[in-house]
Amino acid sequence: MGTSATPEKREGFSSTLGVLAATLGSAVGLGNIWKFPALTGENGGAGFLLIYLCATLLVGLPVMIAELTLGRTARANPIAALKTMSPPGHAWWLVGFMGMLAAFLIMSFYSAVVAWVFAYVWKSLEGSALSSDPVVTEAAFNSLVSSPWQSLLWQWVVLALIGGILLKGVSGGIEAVTKRLMPLLFVLLAGLCVFSLTLDEAAAGLAFLFSPDFAKVDSSVVLTAVGLAFFKMSVGMGTMITYGSYFRSDQNIPLTAGRVMCADLAVSLLAGIAIFPAVFTFGFEPSAGPALVFITLPAVFSQLPFGHGLMVVFFVLTSIAAIGAMLSLLEVPVLILHERFGLKRPQAILACVIMVAALGAACALSASVLADFKLMGRTMFGLADFVSSNLLLPLGGILIALFTGWVWGRDRFTRALSNDGALGNARLASLLVILLKYVSPVLILIVMLQGLGYL
Ligand code: TRP
Repeated sequence: MGTSATPEKREGFSSTLGVLAATLGSAVGLGNIWKFPALTGENGGAGFLLIYLCATLLVGLPVMIAELTLGRTARANPIAALKTMSPPGHAWWLVGFMGMLAAFLIMSFYSAVVAWVFAYVWKSLEGSALSSDPVVTEAAFNSLVSSPWQSLLWQWVVLALIGGILLKGVSGGIEAVTKRLMPLLFVLLAGLCVFSLTLDEAAAGLAFLFSPDFAKVDSSVVLTAVGLAFFKMSVGMGTMITYGSYFRSDQNIPLTAGRVMCADLAVSLLAGIAIFPAVFTFGFEPSAGPALVFITLPAVFSQLPFGHGLMVVFFVLTSIAAIGAMLSLLEVPVLILHERFGLKRPQAILACVIMVAALGAACALSASVLADFKLMGRTMFGLADFVSSNLLLPLGGILIALFTGWVWGRDRFTRALSNDGALGNARLASLLVILLKYVSPVLILIVMLQGLGYL
């Protein structure tokens, strides 16, 4: 158990740059493009930013480092990693199992949204979703999400692409693709920013994003920031255990995680700088979520010089961001089926893609044929989002932090983090252990109780 029968060498990332690209690819996702900028604008600009930074440092980063270290030490999937690292008879492997469930749930709604993004790449190439009238752009979006076949077909395109990349392997697929896409993402985003900053209302857009309004900062804003930090860093379900298991032994884990955190933050800020000056220039509402990306932005683009081309660039870059995140999500169950259940990698990929397609169909159809099918007052889309984001991820994060701090323990963690003493980072390790033992679990618990409506 825990190993496949074949004696083949375990796959892994081949270069430091590749490790960085793949890990950053996981962190950067749909969350950066609309969640982050809109939440920052709504919740007090620079004030929110400051709290988000603290949350990232106190919760996101420590748990990410813990996951990467666990994965690299065990060199195994999350279930096997937690099993081999805990005392005999303990059920910590269940945390890995829960992570696998979370991965399927997140993918089922995430892939439905990525499907819209892909559809919009197509629509923007055609020019069909472009209109200066938000009523028209809203109708265009509604016609997409309310069409069962369009929703399903685009989701299958997404899954086929992600499955196809994973078929090429960890180094030949994930690493090779993210290594090319991440620089492209930065170039496209920087280009959009430069363009956006030349617009008339650039200053108002920047003010919306960056001027601190501490009056808006209350306890629920703090909790929003912690939740965002957590989701942004892709922690709480074993993604980073999985990727850590592909890290080279000489990889400096805290340095890598720190770089990923900074680059991820840069993408978020650039996305805000690219979007809001344009939104303000044309007097639109800076609303959050699907409405901003799929309804407001097409109306904004239609009024810009080169708007058609810019819209293509925007949706291509959003697709790029989403691809890296999807790869990291799908790889978690693929590796588990491969290593633990002995499926060959292509079989494991096929099985996972089929499962996500089945579960994801319920989410993709939530705006059409299944619109009235509700459990606990939520559509399948809403339910998958709620259960994974408010329940499984925070619970997984708490348990991983506690496991690393209390069960695996300070000594082993410190040794592993220093690459067996090669890196002099014992002080940092002590600090991380304190955060993992006390600070992160308590903060995440508060966020979770709030998300469930108990606070
Ligand atoms: N971090 C990604 C985003 O911002 C989403 C994501 C990818 C994720 N893998 C994850 C979130 C694992 C939680 C857990 O869009």
